[in-house]
Amino acid sequence: MIGKSVLILDFGSQYTQLIARRVRELGVYCEILPYNIEVTEIQKRDPGALILSGGPSSVYEAGAPKPSHEIMDLGLPILGICYGLQLLAHFSGMKVESAREREYGLANLEVVAKSELLKGVGQSGRVWMSHGDKITQFPEDFSVTGKTENSEIAVIESSARKIYGIQFHAEVVHTEDGSKIISNFLFDISGLVKNWNMGNFISSSMKWIKETIGDKKVILGLSGGVDSTVLALLLKKAIGENLTPVFVDTGLLRKNEFITLMERFRSELGLDVTGIDAGEIFLNKLKGVSSPEEKRKIIGKTFIDIFSTVEDKIGKVEYFAQGTLYPDVIESVSVKGPSATIKSHHNVGGLPEKMNWKLIEPFRELFKDEVRDIGRELGLDEKFIMRHPFPGPGLAIRIIGDITQEKIVKLQEADAILKEELDSFDLYNSVWQSFVVLLPVKTVGVMGDIRTYENVAVIRLVESVDGMTADWFPAPPDFLTKVSNRIVNEVKGINRVTYDLTSKPPGTIEWE
Ligand code: XMP
Repeated sequence: MIGKSVLILDFGSQYTQLIARRVRELGVYCEILPYNIEVTEIQKRDPGALILSGGPSSVYEAGAPKPSHEIMDLGLPILGICYGLQLLAHFSGMKVESAREREYGLANLEVVAKSELLKGVGQSGRVWMSHGDKITQFPEDFSVTGKTENSEIAVIESSARKIYGIQFHAEVVHTEDGSKIISNFLFDISGLVKNWNMGNFISSSMKWIKETIGDKKVILGLSGGVDSTVLALLLKKAIGENLTPVFVDTGLLRKNEFITLMERFRSELGLDVTGIDAGEIFLNKLKGVSSPEEKRKIIGKTFIDIFSTVEDKIGKVEYFAQGTLYPDVIESVSVKGPSATIKSHHNVGGLPEKMNWKLIEPFRELFKDEVRDIGRELGLDEKFIMRHPFPGPGLAIRIIGDITQEKIVKLQEADAILKEELDSFDLYNSVWQSFVVLLPVKTVGVMGDIRTYENVAVIRLVESVDGMTADWFPAPPDFLTKVSNRIVNEVKGINRVTYDLTSKPPGTIEWE
C-alpha cells in the first residue's frame, strides 16, 4: 500500500468502529487493534498515526484498560477521543476526576485558542458528548483550545509532541465538523496521504489472496447475500479455478431462494457454484432445539460437515473463505478489545473450534456499504447489491422455539408476501432489512364466523447504516394493512400479525 495507515486502539467504546469508518471515508487505511497490543506489534505495522478510542472505564480506577506507556514515546501523532483523551492526560501527568455534571448528548463546543486540530471548525458548533470524567489540570506544554459548558477542558493539544485529545466524539454524525477535525489530524497534523479506496482494496487484497493461497484450493460458503457473493467474485478474479463456491440449501432459506439464486450465480455472475440440497439434514439436526445459541452452533457445525463432502470430491482443500464483516466480528467475539459478546454469528462464533481448513475472511474489517462498493467495482448489478442482509442460520433464528417443516413453510409464505408488498409499494430500498418472525404463541381470532386459534407472525422492518444500530421503520399504514391482511388470509396457521417497534439497542435486529 502507498503511504502509511492509522492504528486505532480500542478501549471498548461502542463507537470505535465508527472511527475506522470515518478514517476510511477520508481515504486513509486503518486497523482497529486491542488497546493492550504490544508496542513491538505497533512498530511492526509502521503506522503514520495512532487514535485512542473512547471506552466505558475511568482512567483512575483499578484495572482500567491501559496500553503500554511507551506508545507516548514512539514519535507518532496521537489523537485521543473521550477515554482516549483522559488516558493521554493521565499519561502526561494531568489530573482526571469524576465530573459532578455528567455530559451526555449534544453540547456546544467553543473554540478558545488558535488550534491545529480545530482549524476550519466553526467558532461554536454542536458536538456529541458521552462522559462522566473530566480533566482538571494540565501541564504547560499542552494548550486548551476548546471548551463546552460542562468541560472547561474539552480539547487539548501539544503541537510539539503531536498529541491531541478531544472530550467529545468526532466520529459520530451528530458532531458538526467531526470529519473536518479527523481530517485535520490525518492530513495536516500527521501528514498522511490518501491510500484507501475500493479499487485499492481490490488490488491489494487480490495480491494478498494470490500470495497467501498460491495454487491451493479454497471452498467458499455462499449464503445468497451480498457479502459472500462479492467475495466469490473477488476470489474468482484472484485464483480462478482454485475457488469452489458452494451454496447449501439448508431448507431454511426464503421461498424459492435456492433455485432462483443458483440460476443467477451460474448464468448472470458466471460462478461455477456447487449446489447441495441438505434441507433434511439440517431439519434432523435441529429437531427439538429451541435455544438460539444452540441453533447457531448446530448450524455452523452442519455447514462444515457438508462442505467437507465437497472436499471428498474435489481433493485436498486448504482454505475456507467467508464473507464475514466487521459488525459480525465485534458482536461475536471480543477479539478487538473489551467489548461484550452479543451473539455467536455463525459466520464467526458459530463455527466449530477445530476445523481442518484455514479461515480466510478478507472483509473482516469492512462494513456492509463498503462491501457493496466493492461489488459495484466488480460489476455486480445494483439489484443484487441492494439485497437485504440475510443471516447464515436463515429462518432457523426467525422461528422462535423449535423448528418443524410445517413452521418453515408457514414462515416462507408469510415472508414472501412481505417481500412482494415491499416491491409493490416501492419500499424495498427504503429499509435496510425486512423479514417476518414466527412466534410459538397462539391467539384467538374469528374468520367467517369461525373461531380460530393460530400462530402470531411479527413483521420486522429496520433502518440502519451497518447493522450495529438500527431503528424500526415507520412503515405507511396502508402498506402494513395490506401485508397483514394478506398474511392472515393467505397463510394457513397464522391468524394475527404484529409490528415490531424495537430499535437496536436495546433490541437486536433478529429475534434470536
Ligand atoms: P443482530 O440480530 O445481531 O443482527 O442485530 C445484525 C445483522 O447480522 C445478521 N445476523 C447474522 N448473520 N449469521 C449471519 O451471517 C448470524 O448468525 C447472524 N445473526 C444476525 C442480522 O440479520 C443483521 O443483518
